[in-house]
Amino acid sequence: RGPETFSPTGQETGVAQELVAQGGEFLTTAQGTRLHDTDHSLKAGPRGPVLLQDHHLREKITHFDHERIPERVVHARGAAAHGVFTGYGTAEGISKAAFLAKDAETPVFVRFSTVLGSRGSADTVRDTRGFATKFYTSEGVFDLVGNNMPVFFIQDAIKFPDVIHAGKPHPDREIPQAQSAHDTFWDFVTLHTEATHHTLWNMSDRGIPRSYRMMEGFGVHTFRLVNADGATTLVKFHWKPKLGVHSLVWEEAQITAGMDPDFHRRDLADAIESGAHPQWELGVQTFPDTEDQMFHGIDLLDPTKIVPEELAEVRPIGLMTLNANPSNYFAETEQVAFHVGHLVPGIDVTNDPLMQGRLFSYLDTQISRLGGPNFGQLPINRTHAPVNDMLRDGMHQTAVHSGVAPYRPNSLDGGCPFVAGADTGAYIEVPVEVRKGPKVRAAAASFDDHFSQPRLFWLSMTPTEREHIIAAYTFELNKCWEQAVKERALLVLANIDTGLCAQVAAGLGLPAPEPTAALADPQPSPALSQLGGTWPLD
Ligand code: HEM
Repeated sequence: RGPETFSPTGQETGVAQELVAQGGEFLTTAQGTRLHDTDHSLKAGPRGPVLLQDHHLREKITHFDHERIPERVVHARGAAAHGVFTGYGTAEGISKAAFLAKDAETPVFVRFSTVLGSRGSADTVRDTRGFATKFYTSEGVFDLVGNNMPVFFIQDAIKFPDVIHAGKPHPDREIPQAQSAHDTFWDFVTLHTEATHHTLWNMSDRGIPRSYRMMEGFGVHTFRLVNADGATTLVKFHWKPKLGVHSLVWEEAQITAGMDPDFHRRDLADAIESGAHPQWELGVQTFPDTEDQMFHGIDLLDPTKIVPEELAEVRPIGLMTLNANPSNYFAETEQVAFHVGHLVPGIDVTNDPLMQGRLFSYLDTQISRLGGPNFGQLPINRTHAPVNDMLRDGMHQTAVHSGVAPYRPNSLDGGCPFVAGADTGAYIEVPVEVRKGPKVRAAAASFDDHFSQPRLFWLSMTPTEREHIIAAYTFELNKCWEQAVKERALLVLANIDTGLCAQVAAGLGLPAPEPTAALADPQPSPALSQLGGTWPLD
């Protein structure tokens, strides 16, 4: 039962796995006692009642009874693969992270997912896709927990339970499974107009990707990189697929959901098995780390905003190749635990209020999903860097810790004195100034602009893409029961574009409202207005 490095498709992934063989000459109990029969329970005579003393029966059934763990509260359905990330060295000037150095090779594990459906739901539904990458770097684990869309529904993590409650199946009938046809979903996104941009991405072809291999990935939030001299740069992370970005059309997505609900999962596994290893370039848009954290009038702390690539190009910093399928879905894809707070020296977070809430949420949910605080010891979650923590005991502890003084410094066990102030390769938070201000439950005024970027997105679409968006809104809103929700959705569309609104209104058989002052863009960004309709997305 020793840990081994496994390579199910002959590839060296470098990820240590406990390979527990299910073979051998004899069947045994979990304690290793040989069994002579596993098909008949122990009875008082062939037609008599089953005896409580049958340990094998009870062990076998009890273990089976507990085979399932709770599915993720979001992103329950996923598929994953192992691979390798190779640094280009182009980011060395802005980040001291070792895995970004030229030709540095780092094992990775990537889990793609839908957000709202349950574990058994279909792959090709209209939804956002998760794109979470675990880098097993020499300096510890770095998780880039992103999506296939560059913006998010909400600006503050305190609304996350609300947006998910609105998007998950209705509590009474538990239908439907995705963003389609929800009164609650459309109720939420029209009451919270910050959701307009992400909703528009969802209603576009990006909401029904052709393949996980043909999706972009985005870190969404602005991160802060720090180089060896301590200089900082703000960045947004982008994954660019070598195969390009491709989508299904709605009819294909619907038919595929019926004929092959595992379409994306199968596509990923088949491609890797046949040697067509998917690749993505990791790139960054870089922005000066100014005090106001604005760039051309765009608030970099607002996760509902992008920075157009015309204003800041995406510079490639490394290449990821997925080259091996998991050998056990449960042990790897289901038990992997990503966390926005898993950072390495050279990468730090910002004050984006959505990001700040995520820093709390992931560890918290995983303690309940994975049964206690020791899931970091599971093979798929283990760091490849040496570990010397003082964490002890707890549910599902598998380490046998030695030493009598689990605290540092101590005068009994010795070891690892801290050198205060010295950069010894440790993770040191960037000492950014925390601005003074009153304690408030409020957002910056720059967060109030909910329509200028959706408008740009709409204007950047080709006629065919616009047709698809109009059809998607019409289809989804037609499933709403509440007239008031449909009418409010049309009001939101009017504030994106009156032409878009008019066409969806015609499809719903409702009058098209005029844009409202209250919903109109209160603070159009000068830089974005200049770009007008000429901004191409890709
Ligand atoms: C799971 C992305 C916002 C809470 C995930 C996963 C991804 C993801 C990709 C799936 C991870 C996996 O494959 O195991 C994002 C992105 C966000 C976002 C890109 C916004 C930019 C939030 C927020 C919260 C949150 C604001 C809570 C405050 C969770 C939770 C899980 C999850 C609880 C389940 C984790 C688990 O059980 O392992 N998220 N998320 N997310 N996310 Fe987020």
